[in-house]
Amino acid sequence: MTTLPPLLLVGAGRMGGALLAGWREQGLSRGFVIDPSLGAQSLACPNISVLADASLLPPDFAPEAIVLAVKPQMAAAVVPAYKRYVGKAAFVSIMAGKTVQGVSHLLGGSAAVIRAMPNTPAAVRQGITVAFAGPNVSDSQKQLGERLLTAAGEVAWVEGEAMLDPVTAISGGGPAYVFLLTELLEKAGLDQGLPPELAKRMARQTVVGSAALLAASPEAPEALREAVTSPGGTTAEALKLLRADDALPKIFKAAIQAAVDRSRELSG
Ligand SMILES: NC(=O)c1ccc[n+]([C@@H]2O[C@H](COP(=O)([O-])OP(=O)(O)OC[C@H]3O[C@@H](n4cnc5c(N)ncnc54)[C@H](OP(=O)(O)O)[C@@H]3O)[C@@H](O)[C@H]2O)c1
Repeated sequence: MTTLPPLLLVGAGRMGGALLAGWREQGLSRGFVIDPSLGAQSLACPNISVLADASLLPPDFAPEAIVLAVKPQMAAAVVPAYKRYVGKAAFVSIMAGKTVQGVSHLLGGSAAVIRAMPNTPAAVRQGITVAFAGPNVSDSQKQLGERLLTAAGEVAWVEGEAMLDPVTAISGGGPAYVFLLTELLEKAGLDQGLPPELAKRMARQTVVGSAALLAASPEAPEALREAVTSPGGTTAEALKLLRADDALPKIFKAAIQAAVDRSRELSG
């Protein structure tokens, strides 16, 4: 694979740092990270220098992409400093809830903006990022955006930006629901009198192992679930309760709707 073109990463926290780790493996041209919380020596990344502020960027630096990975509430204070690259570079924003129009507005109006929603398994390159390309994004910029986001795991594109609200609720927040399930399994083990260490280990490995089985198997989750559920057996008894009156599907549907509604409220 060819070396990545010159890049500028704005914010190298959890998400930005995970992306950078993936880009490093692809090979990086000369580039910069802007993050005031990182010391200049703190990134052992060939070709990449850390600066505390956009004003310190060399005037002749010409990035092909600028990845905006600061917290959304910082956008208004941080993003306008990169106006000088509009028309020359693609902006890839992973800031939750920040619309293409909102980011473009902060950049003076006509920027090429890709809006992307990753999720936290990005930290182990097992994330899924769903992205939307704004109207000024060229095909080659979209390809570069895909290559950059692939560093966090799988990438999918949507044609309508509104789809990023359900995406936020399902894959953005999804890891939290899976972790909650893990917590609940552990708690149930404790309630049943299992030793705490065993309850924790069982809950964790059951989720990790089930995810690995799902990843390795060509079967649908329904088939994998049915394979655990003998008619009249113990799992069937538990599932009967979980699904009585559609209990779990109903609460799950309502929970996702609440997250979608909140995503719409926060968008701007
Ligand atoms: N975590 C998720 O599940 C998730 C999922 C999808 C999207 N996102 C989005 O990803 C973005 C980053 O989230 P995160 O969890 O990686 O946050 P984070 O760990 O707080 O990272 C943000 C980084 O930006 C730095 N920063 C602060 N001011 C800056 C400035 N003026 N210029 C450049 N960098 C600056 C922060 O430094 P300080 O710590 O010193 O402030 C921090 O290192 C957010 O917009 C979030 O919405 C996150």
